[in-house]
Amino acid sequence: MACTLDLFGGDDPVQHGRVALGPQAVVLRGYALPVVDELLAGVDAVTAQAPFRHMETPGGYTMSVALTNCGGLGWTTDARGYRYSRIDPQSGQPWPAMPQSFLRLAADAAAEAGFPGFAPDACLVNRYEPGSRLSLHQDRNERDYAAPIVSVSLGMPAMFLFGGDARADRAERVPLFHGDVVVWGGVDRLRYHGVMPLQDLPHPQLGSVRINFTIRKAG
Ligand code: SIN
Ligand code: FE2
Repeated sequence: MACTLDLFGGDDPVQHGRVALGPQAVVLRGYALPVVDELLAGVDAVTAQAPFRHMETPGGYTMSVALTNCGGLGWTTDARGYRYSRIDPQSGQPWPAMPQSFLRLAADAAAEAGFPGFAPDACLVNRYEPGSRLSLHQDRNERDYAAPIVSVSLGMPAMFLFGGDARADRAERVPLFHGDVVVWGGVDRLRYHGVMPLQDLPHPQLGSVRINFTIRKAG
């Protein structure tokens, strides 16, 4: 316990700089901090139209992470499998538009990480509560893997797991904090990743919630 708390603690939780996770994978510490208010307004606009919900996995489990989407394509899961859909299955309507603040941040972060010209069409928004976790997986439902994944973390900290190209490969543990952005693409595009069960370390602004959104080129 003390060990985990130490990782999340420290005198100055706002760090800056880059942490390399691979040749083409990087954590940009605090990169989103200057635009957090715009991003949170974007999340509110999206969830007003397409609320967070707990989806079923093809294996019959209910995900502990609640999700929604914005952009032309949204990632969904049910008994029939994982896929991207233009329609929110809950409302029967198209997913809400991707907020400009998401598009701008994603393009800037991608360029900063060596992927200029990122033109995403999909954004999966995840909401974690204490105990929520995401098991190791690859992001592989996108049509081609030329574009990177841009992942933005807000609210409570989480221990991100960044593994290799095989599920059994050792996964590095990377704490992610409010405002951090992770970008992975190129040779690192299919690295396994996940999130350990969240501890209840309430965030001053968001409380006992972590929001992560991953911006992708899916179609
Ligand atoms: C994901 O893999 O979709 C989310 C990763 C995270 O929550 O940091
Ligand atoms: Fe993922």
